[in-house]
Amino acid sequence: MRSFDLPGDKSISHRALILAAVSAGRARIRGVLPSADVASTAGVLTALGVAVPPLDPTEMVISGVGLRGLSAPQIDLDCGNSGTTARLLAGLLAGAGLPARLIGDTSLSARPMRRVAEPLRAMGADVTTSASGGLPMTLGSRALHALTWRSEVPSAQVKSALLLAGLMAGVHVAVDEPVPTRDHTERMLRAAGVDVHLEGTEVVLEPKDRIALDTIEIPGDCSSAAFLLGLALLGGSPALALRGVGVNPGRTGAIEALRRMGASIRCEAERVFGEEPVATLIAEPSVLRGITIGGAEIPALIDELPLLACVAARAEGETRVSGAGELRVKESDRIRAVVENLRAIGAEAEECSDGFVVRGSDRPLHGTVRTHGDHRIAMAFGILGALPGNAITIDDPSCVRVSWPTFWDVLRDAT
Ligand code: S3P
Repeated sequence: MRSFDLPGDKSISHRALILAAVSAGRARIRGVLPSADVASTAGVLTALGVAVPPLDPTEMVISGVGLRGLSAPQIDLDCGNSGTTARLLAGLLAGAGLPARLIGDTSLSARPMRRVAEPLRAMGADVTTSASGGLPMTLGSRALHALTWRSEVPSAQVKSALLLAGLMAGVHVAVDEPVPTRDHTERMLRAAGVDVHLEGTEVVLEPKDRIALDTIEIPGDCSSAAFLLGLALLGGSPALALRGVGVNPGRTGAIEALRRMGASIRCEAERVFGEEPVATLIAEPSVLRGITIGGAEIPALIDELPLLACVAARAEGETRVSGAGELRVKESDRIRAVVENLRAIGAEAEECSDGFVVRGSDRPLHGTVRTHGDHRIAMAFGILGALPGNAITIDDPSCVRVSWPTFWDVLRDAT
């Protein structure tokens, strides 16, 4: 059996840099993901006066400037392609009362920012988005007050932005989530000494004057692991063991869905790594059948739906996904991109307003995939392309730099 270590978790890497930047004293970060998205967060923090060393997965040390120590930026803050950077830092900046302007690439500029601007305004912040509700987003300097907010869309980015705003402004925040989302921010805040707890469906943060972090251990990225699981399940490689993968329940929906499809995925060596549960995931070639995916399970597998669609193209029968309208406002319109590309390579798929239907087959798949610059589209179809008998060209393979710069090398090693 072949074993692989996964790159550091992207969501947790952003949070580690942000919280280390505003903590008191030095924080050690181990396992950071050296990717373009995380570099965007590092770049913005640098523009706020934090000395951020180069992204080094072995270890990087950040000397935090404290909750009141950030400086007003002299330049536009470039979030690149990263929604997590734009939304989390909007909350941080609003809470710090620092005037700033957040910008991004074409894809990010078109993504919805009102979902974060509106609750920040409800806290008293002076925030404007572009006319279409995207970037550029400008933040003025105003003191914030306490907030109780019910999110319309389940979004860990919005929840995290509001918790960071409350932390920086020193005010009480309660976020009521329609469906629970990944809780990495809450776990890391607790490790930093903040009282963040659940009251029913509300995530509540109590104000605090200072935070301190010692060592942050970042597990392997569960969303990246999903691509290699797909490869092994579809027989593109022998059985694979993926070590040190984060298995936070807010992230493991795809593993549950794959198991429902008949996948053999074992979880071994489970332990707690820093604040997060990790495990070795072992996947073996499996006979898969179509399933229905929807409702409350969507947030825990939202980023894995392109991969699940590609796996479904090789399963017996039909896979139906609904309740996933959020896919239309990710790095690309992932519902359209998945369906158009599956059809372009000879698979059967249909678009729905909030999901898609894929009918599996074992016929050879060939053609060119248009990624629309979306890393997860490139990697999901890269897995299908690595299966014997398929011949698939990806139009922009380099877009994987956003979350997994060495993906194509690892894929070659794994097959
Ligand atoms: C993320 C939350 C999710 C996810 C994204 C990363 C995060 O987005 O899709 O890739 O790090 O908080 P939403 O908050 O928009 O659901």
